[in-house]
Amino acid sequence: MKKRFLRLLFLSGTLLALLTACEYDYNVPAPPKPAPPANDTISYSQDVQPFFTAKCVSCHAGSLAPNLVAGQSYAAVVPAFVTANSPETSELYTVCAPGGSMVSYGNVTSAELDLLYRWIFAGAKND
Ligand code: HEC
Repeated sequence: MKKRFLRLLFLSGTLLALLTACEYDYNVPAPPKPAPPANDTISYSQDVQPFFTAKCVSCHAGSLAPNLVAGQSYAAVVPAFVTANSPETSELYTVCAPGGSMVSYGNVTSAELDLLYRWIFAGAKND
């Protein structure tokens, strides 16, 4: 009787160990965004600068880095805050992405964030 109890105890212990060994880490990073088309027509002067002018220059007008004023902004963000072709590692993108420090400051919309993403992905050109 005692032996059977011990065996049962051993078996359930092994089972528990097996179950907890199969614990799954649910903290999976978000899947990467699908790549924009290769012929993306995004333009710095036509798309990105108007966003800076509307949402950012109220604070970033020269004395606060980066200077996002038209005509001066490109030199202020590339390369200091932008790694061409790599939005996820570009601070300009990450501070505007969900959880970033400029989201509420600049009231950044997902469409505006998408512009930044496409522009950096396409090479962060001064066009
Ligand atoms: C209400 C004022 C305000 C607005 C609007 C604002 N910022 Fe900022 N920004 C700041 C301040 C203050 C800092 C200094 C660091 C901090 O507080 O996080 C900063 C820092 C930054 C930095 C540098 C981050 C770092 O860690 O050095 C970047 C890049 C930036 N802002 C981008 C933007 C963009 C893009 C916009 C427009 C969507 C924007 N900011 C709108 C106030 C603002």
